[in-house]
Amino acid sequence: MKPTTRAAVELEFPGLITAAEDARRRAWAPHSRFHVGAALLFADGRGERLVGGCNVESDVYGLTICAERNALFAAVAQGRGEPLAMAVIADTDAPVTPCGACRQVMHECDPERRLRVFLVAVAGDVVHETSPSDLLPGAFALDRGEGRRSPWR
Ligand code: THU
Repeated sequence: MKPTTRAAVELEFPGLITAAEDARRRAWAPHSRFHVGAALLFADGRGERLVGGCNVESDVYGLTICAERNALFAAVAQGRGEPLAMAVIADTDAPVTPCGACRQVMHECDPERRLRVFLVAVAGDVVHETSPSDLLPGAFALDRGEGRRSPWR
């Protein structure tokens, strides 16, 4: 986990954190009232440069989906190439830390091991830079002897 700043992320990946903030405004969290936004940045030229996701809760609590997985799954469904960067934002004291399920999915969505992950708090300028491998050492991977698989086109 490497500390950086919003300004540094904005220079390298313009609009990424703003897209996560925008997605967070669309969160549907009537149970927890904990709103989370995520955004992915692409350079594949096959659609929007930025794809967002928010958490969506169900009255059947276990059906809830996190912002991170919603963003990743939406991008896969859009037939995108591999993302370069991801931002996650929530109203936390320190930059938000993704749940275990999202860490697993982030890892599987990073077959080339080059996804840059930025964890952000709504208030404050400190951003934590990390990666799916940092977030989940020893992640599970289905080994069918087919080598590394990728959900991206
Ligand atoms: N949540 C996320 O969307 N991402 C995270 O990284 C942590 C948790 C959501 C799930 C649920 O809707 C609410 O936050 C409280 O757990």
